[in-house]
Amino acid sequence: MRRIVAIARSVLLAGITALVFASVTQPGKAMGQEPQEAEKPIPAEDAAKKNPVKPTPEGLAAAKKLFGYHCAMCHGVQGDGKGDLAADMKLQLKDWREPNALAKMTDGELFYIVTNGRGKMTGGEGDRTSEEVRWNLVNYVRSFAKKEGGEKPQ
Ligand code: HEC
Repeated sequence: MRRIVAIARSVLLAGITALVFASVTQPGKAMGQEPQEAEKPIPAEDAAKKNPVKPTPEGLAAAKKLFGYHCAMCHGVQGDGKGDLAADMKLQLKDWREPNALAKMTDGELFYIVTNGRGKMTGGEGDRTSEEVRWNLVNYVRSFAKKEGGEKPQ
């Protein structure tokens, strides 16, 4: 009789444990877990920032060099969005040679993305290059859409 009681008790205990366990591990109910958010919009004050750096041959040349090291593997040497890494990652990137590709974006937005990265563009240059260099990168990105092949400021 004692034995039966003991078995019944342990069965009950196991049942309770399973119940508690199940309720804790229910998907979506774990504490403090938010579903993966869509990318936050770029803050209005960042989008409205004016580009303080004029495109100059020197600035564009410096940006071009950096672009070759840090950006071209995704965005392509020509800015066409067909870099090797972009292909590997199956990224659909804009073709910056198209005059319309970036027409709706402000320099401030481009600067923000170059600085902080966005979505699959991880990292960003914010912690490794100066603001001036990043504005030059914005000028360089814009220059792909210019007819004479990019290098010259208009
Ligand atoms: C790992 C691949 C990758 C690298 C490296 C990368 N980018 Fe991007 N870039 C992206 C992706 C993906 C987007 C689109 C992000 C979004 O809006 O979700 C993007 C967006 C941008 C945009 C906004 C305009 C647009 O086409 O959507 C700019 C400007 C930009 N990148 C500049 C740069 C610069 C400058 C560098 C180098 C310093 C760089 N990127 C490096 C993947 C990359």
